[in-house]
Amino acid sequence: MIPYIIINVAMSINGKISAINGRYRISNDIDINRVMEIRKNVDGVLLGANSVKVDNPVLNYAKNRIILDEKLRLNDNYNVFDGKIKSYIFSRNNKKIKNAEIIILDDLSITSILKKLYDMGIKSILVEGGSNVINQFIDKKIFDEFYIFINPGLILDGIPLFKEEMKLNYKISMEGDGLLLNIKDINNF
Ligand SMILES: NC(=O)c1ccc[n+]([C@@H]2O[C@H](COP(=O)([O-])OP(=O)(O)OC[C@H]3O[C@@H](n4cnc5c(N)ncnc54)[C@H](OP(=O)(O)O)[C@@H]3O)[C@@H](O)[C@H]2O)c1
Repeated sequence: MIPYIIINVAMSINGKISAINGRYRISNDIDINRVMEIRKNVDGVLLGANSVKVDNPVLNYAKNRIILDEKLRLNDNYNVFDGKIKSYIFSRNNKKIKNAEIIILDDLSITSILKKLYDMGIKSILVEGGSNVINQFIDKKIFDEFYIFINPGLILDGIPLFKEEMKLNYKISMEGDGLLLNIKDINNF
């Protein structure tokens, strides 16, 4: 068994989830409130190591923080290791990181990680990024809900959400000055 998976990401209208040269707020206040409500209702929030490095998020309202860091490049200094809630790191390596439990798996495929989390009692997860991690879920079509908030602005020099051409089947709604796609299905062209 694997947990119930909700993917959420914010991107510019041309598909970038982050500007190369620094932080750029892609979501708006309405969208942030929507995401906070999801965080409150799931057992854990999952992020890749690069997102922790670049954004240094606290992940307010998360019940558990789940970080994928195969090479264990992170250190004690990130906000996710503030000790206020439990943080788990899935890795191939081991080292002491304050306030984090390192889970070493030979098989670091998303399916294997999710099975382990389910067995640990984490039955629902919000996947917040980044692109590398989200694409592993897309490749295997592992999601129960998938939301993309689209900011009407352009980021020219940024990290793309998608690595290849994709065809999305979605319901769309306005969210303030942005758009919210509720993805029902996603396929290669
Ligand atoms: N707009 C948004 O909604 C949003 C949300 C979150 C993040 N972001 C942005 O996304 C960017 C980062 O995205 P990214 O694609 O570069 O990186 P990422 O997905 O955040 O992290 C990728 C790293 O996570 C580790 N990893 C991935 N899968 C793993 C697995 N199955 N097992 C163990 N470790 C695994 C790997 O670390 P190793 O190198 O150790 O192998 C990999 O290099 C940042 O710029 C951030 O600002 C945007």
